[in-house]
Amino acid sequence: MASVSFEAPRGMRDFYPEDMRWRNRVFDAWRAAAERFGFHPYDACVVESLELLQRKSGEEVSEQIYAFEDKSGRKLALRPEMTPTLARMVAARQSRLNFPIKWYAVAQCFRYERMTRGRKREHYQLNMDIIGSEDVLCEAEILGAAVSAMRAMGMPDAAWRIHVSSRALLGELLAKSGIPDDQHTAVFMALDKRGKIPDEEIVAILREAGLDDVAVAKAFELLAVTSLDGAEALAGSDSPAIANLRALFDLARRMGYGDLLMFDIAVIRGLSYYTGIVFEAFDVDRRFRAIFGGGRYDSLLALVGGKPTPAVGMGFGDVVVGEVLREVLGESAPIARKGYAIGYMTPDQRDAAIGLAARLRAEGNTVDLALLPQKPKHFFSKAGASDSRYAVFLGPDDLAAGTAQAKDLDTRESHPVTLAP
Ligand code: HAM
Repeated sequence: MASVSFEAPRGMRDFYPEDMRWRNRVFDAWRAAAERFGFHPYDACVVESLELLQRKSGEEVSEQIYAFEDKSGRKLALRPEMTPTLARMVAARQSRLNFPIKWYAVAQCFRYERMTRGRKREHYQLNMDIIGSEDVLCEAEILGAAVSAMRAMGMPDAAWRIHVSSRALLGELLAKSGIPDDQHTAVFMALDKRGKIPDEEIVAILREAGLDDVAVAKAFELLAVTSLDGAEALAGSDSPAIANLRALFDLARRMGYGDLLMFDIAVIRGLSYYTGIVFEAFDVDRRFRAIFGGGRYDSLLALVGGKPTPAVGMGFGDVVVGEVLREVLGESAPIARKGYAIGYMTPDQRDAAIGLAARLRAEGNTVDLALLPQKPKHFFSKAGASDSRYAVFLGPDDLAAGTAQAKDLDTRESHPVTLAP
C-alpha cells in the first residue's frame, strides 16, 4: 500500500498538549471573568439550521457558511457565530425567562474564510450577552468582563485598546446628510469594508444601494471624524447617540478601564443586526485583526420570532488573542504549575512511589507518577518542562529514611514528604 500522510483540513487546528496550555490560559480566563461578572453558562449544538443562519447573520458571514444536507434532506450548517442560536433559544422561552438575562458560552464556530493572519476556518469564541435591558450599563458590564479576562491572561493594558462607535450615531449623521433610513444598513455594510477592498468598489456598492454622488461623498466624509467632540459638532448637542456614548465612557472610568476605551467612528462591524453602540478591540500597533467585537442588537429577537427585546453582546475569539499574547508575553510565558511529579530510581522504590502518589491524590493533588524507573537527571529535566509544581524522586536512601524531598520547581526550595512505612 502506498504510504499516506494526513493533515488537519486546511484552516482547522490540532491542539497538542503544548497548544492546550495556551488555549486553557485563554479559556480559563474567559470563564473566570464571565462568572466574576455574573454571567450564566449556556450551550448548543454546533449544527444549526441553515435558514436561521442565512437570514440572521451578516452578509459576509452568510457567504462563509459550511452548509450540508443530512440524509433526510434537511439543510444544515456548522454555526459561523453563536448569536442567531442564542436569539433562537431565548425566543423559544421568552415568556418564562426572568429578564434581563446575562448568558455566556465558549463556542466553536466555523467560517469558510480566506486564510490570513488571525483568521482560521474554525475558532472558539467567548460570547457574553445581556438580553432584556436598554441601559448602557450592559455595554459597560460586558466590556468590563472582557477587560477582566484580558488582564487575567496577562495582557498589559498598554498593549491594546477598545475602539467604540455607534450605529445609532452614524444613523443620525447619515439622516442629517439626507440619506434615508432604509439605506443605512447598506451604507454600514459598505463602509465596514473600508481598508479590505478598494474605495472605488465601496463607491460602486453605495451607488448600487441607491445613493447619488453627493450622498456617497457625505458617507465617506463621516469617516473623517476623529473625536466624540467632532461627532457632537455634526450630530448636535441634543444627540441621544452622543449622550449614550458619553455615558459609556463615564461608566468605563468608574469601573477602572476608562483609559482602554477610545472613540473610533470607523468601527462599524460586518454583521447587519447591530443597532447601537458597536466596539472592537485591537492591539495598539494595529498589527493584528480584531481581538474581540460586539455591540447592541435591539431588533434580532423580533427577527427570529420573539417579542422585540433589547440586547447587547460580544464575541471574543481565541485566535487573535493567542497571537497577541504570544507576541507580548513571549513563547515561554510562565506556566501555572500545580501538583507533583513522582519518579524513582529502580523498581525497588516503585511501590513506595505508588503509595505516595495515592496519598497525595487522595488529598486532592494532581500527581504525575513515572511509569518506569529513571535516572535522576532525566526525571528532573522532564519534570522541569512539565506543568508540575513539585518533583519528588525516590532512591534507596529515601526509602531507608522514610521521607523524601519535594522540590519546588519554581523556587528551587524543598520540603520533606513522609513515605508510608
Ligand atoms: P465577529 O466580529 O464576527 O462577531 O467575531 C467575533 C470575534 O471572533 C472576532 O473579533 C475574532 O476574534 C473572532 N473571529 C471571527 N472570525 C474568525 C476567524 N475566521 N478566525 C479566527 N477568529 C475569528 C460575532 O461573531 C458576533 N456574533 C459577536 C456578538 C455576540 N455580537 C453580539 N453578541
